[in-house]
Amino acid sequence: MLWRLFTSSFAIKKYHHGEDPWAIVTGASDGIGKELCRSLAQRGFNVFLHGRDSDKLILVRNSLATQFPNARFEVAVADATRPGLVTEVAAVLAGKNLTIVINNAGYTGAPIQPFTSFSSNELERGTNIGVGWITQLTHVVLPTLIENKPSLMVNIGSFVESQPSPFLAVYSGTKGYTRAFSHALRLEMQALGHNDVEIQYHEVHGVATKANGEPESLIVPSPRNMAEAIVSAVGKRSSFIVPYWVHELFTWAFMVVPNRFLQMMMISEVGKRRTDLKGNIG
Ligand SMILES: NC(=O)c1ccc[n+]([C@@H]2O[C@H](COP(=O)([O-])OP(=O)(O)OC[C@H]3O[C@@H](n4cnc5c(N)ncnc54)[C@H](OP(=O)(O)O)[C@@H]3O)[C@@H](O)[C@H]2O)c1
Repeated sequence: MLWRLFTSSFAIKKYHHGEDPWAIVTGASDGIGKELCRSLAQRGFNVFLHGRDSDKLILVRNSLATQFPNARFEVAVADATRPGLVTEVAAVLAGKNLTIVINNAGYTGAPIQPFTSFSSNELERGTNIGVGWITQLTHVVLPTLIENKPSLMVNIGSFVESQPSPFLAVYSGTKGYTRAFSHALRLEMQALGHNDVEIQYHEVHGVATKANGEPESLIVPSPRNMAEAIVSAVGKRSSFIVPYWVHELFTWAFMVVPNRFLQMMMISEVGKRRTDLKGNIG
């Protein structure tokens, strides 16, 4: 918690260098991703908005262009459940001074149900977006981040990584991958002398987005507040960050709560949200 006293919300400006610096945010048409684009534009970055729905992306782009007339915005349309399509995103990014990548898109549409009830197609979509896409996109952008250092990659994680969730086994697993992947690459950058290529995993808990469905509260912040917390926390320069302060308090509290209790809580709370049981909604 104390790190917040020493971290400026403008630390991200370190990555605003060279001619016309760009950031890319995946899953930018809604929720936290859309607000991340806004936060970055507010700090002077040009932003690539990635998503799967071109109409929705164009609406977001137009709204941002009106709010931030000095920034530039481009859209990159590709379904993240098809990792082979990263080449199309790479083509849009070519030649740009890319200094920030935020891997935000995740398996947020996952049904909450027993693993055995998932179709093999759903399993493939979940692992493709949660593992395949982030891996392939990182492979495409990392050489540019190395060339354009100082540069930053933020990979958005979830509470269900540190407290794996029943009925969301694949989603939990993909976030476990994301955390280990981020940490390994961070060490690799250091080993190769690229200390100025900053790679971070940000653990997000409940946020009031369409994926979550909860109303906004102190514990469940708005996507705008969550995005601001993420962008402001970048200056911590650590591999694991819980960007929103209330969520970080919970992380600390969970360290002293007996594991058995936490596991019972996950079974009970997530069980209430099962989408396969009559009367429950996503
Ligand atoms: N909200 C929470 O409570 C919460 C908690 C923990 C972690 N997180 C993490 O935060 C991140 C953002 O979540 P969110 O709540 O903002 O989700 P969201 O409101 O559902 O928005 C997800 C974004 O990703 C896009 N997207 C989804 N599937 C895609 C695909 N196959 N290809 C391309 N784009 C796709 C969506 O596009 P459309 O507009 O077309 O749907 C949307 O722009 C995720 O990594 C999630 O795991 C969220």
